[in-house]
Amino acid sequence: MNILLIGSGGREHALAWAIRQSGQCETLFCAPGNAGIAEICECVALDVSDHDAVAGFCRDNAVGLVVVGPEGPLVTGIVDALDAAGIKAFGPDAAAARLEGSKAFTKEVCTKYGIPTARYGRFDNAEAALGYLAANPAPIVVKADGLAAGKGVIVAMTDEQAQAAVRDIFSGRFGAAGAEVVIEEFLDGEEASFFALCDGETAVPFGTAQDHKRVGDGDTGANTGGMGAYSPAPVLDAAMSARVIDEIIAPTMNGMAAEGCPYKGVLYAGLMITAEGPKLIEYNCRFGDPECQVLMMRLDSDIVPLLLASCDGTLKEAAVAWRKQAALTVVMAASGYPGEPKKGGTISGLAKAAAPDQVEVFHAATRHDGERLTASGGRVLNVTALGDSVSEAAGRAYRAVDEIDWADGFCRRDIGWRAIEREMAKG
Ligand code: AMP
Ligand code: GLY
Repeated sequence: MNILLIGSGGREHALAWAIRQSGQCETLFCAPGNAGIAEICECVALDVSDHDAVAGFCRDNAVGLVVVGPEGPLVTGIVDALDAAGIKAFGPDAAAARLEGSKAFTKEVCTKYGIPTARYGRFDNAEAALGYLAANPAPIVVKADGLAAGKGVIVAMTDEQAQAAVRDIFSGRFGAAGAEVVIEEFLDGEEASFFALCDGETAVPFGTAQDHKRVGDGDTGANTGGMGAYSPAPVLDAAMSARVIDEIIAPTMNGMAAEGCPYKGVLYAGLMITAEGPKLIEYNCRFGDPECQVLMMRLDSDIVPLLLASCDGTLKEAAVAWRKQAALTVVMAASGYPGEPKKGGTISGLAKAAAPDQVEVFHAATRHDGERLTASGGRVLNVTALGDSVSEAAGRAYRAVDEIDWADGFCRRDIGWRAIEREMAKG
């Protein structure tokens, strides 16, 4: 079957790499893609915000499955439009994608269906929000309600920071995303991500991961989209994963169905593992980036039948096999990121970096400029490796990083530190 993948990041390169290995995939299109994706896909210049144009492309090119990478098109209803045109698409429809698109919606689902999460208040004006802060001192977390590209969350350690965050969000800086704020209890614990493939009724566990959101070593500096990740997350052992399914994922699936918006696609739960157990920080309605890169490295099953089963409602019969190994990915970013990244620098050495077995270099913001491979955005490469332990995967990934020649690039040197410390302590 012909497949169209939507997106242009490292997540989509990893998805393309996995889909390409499927016996069921004939032509793999990607819109818009990047330089790495172009090596394994036919990249097409489609305006993915024009859902009718995407549907038209699918009809003209006999596309049997559309796989949507990023949240933007999901939240604006690309799956609804494709469904209406009779084209199978992997991902939630707009009503179900509210689990990511609206923090307030997710909080309501949590309250109604007894899903453990931080206590919260929701406000549409600064006065009421500041009043709530007066009654609930720091540490406390202030969030813009809508999609704010990861920048709408302020973990305030002082009352002054919390008040400033409320004023900032209501200043209009986040546009429509800042029309409401959610203020929530600060959760103390270890963060981890849990993924499930869903078909509206059944949720099949689809791996765990931990990422590093801060730009600097030691988890310092500005927040980013993610500077690296590894899988599995040691804190989500079998017993804790079972609790996540019973207490969080299953009630969400049942609740969404009861609300008339059954959830299909990948459900990505951002969790805090607290002393009382797992609590939901947020849902995302798509794979994580760079978490997807480590999941795809570990996946031992053909991904295409699983994506189709999610669309068709047949996940109950599906089995997912994983490699025993751990996977780790190091993000190489352009200097300046997460601020204004330095674009246009030449990148070389990738063939040598990716030569060892068990190493893949997934591209994010790359493009070809004649013969040169150049950086075209903030997060540029995902140097990804398997290993018998997280330590071994990290060693392999960093050896590959060191083969890459790119003057403007930088990466964190401590990806995986928490898991590596655990492994060292075990001996
Ligand atoms: P979010 O965009 O909701 O994932 O929030 C971004 C980051 O803020 C999370 O990855 C956490 O590190 C932190 N965070 C969000 N909510 C809370 C909370 N209630 N307690 C502690 N940290 C939080
Ligand atoms: N790496 C975090 C995310 O994809 O949301």
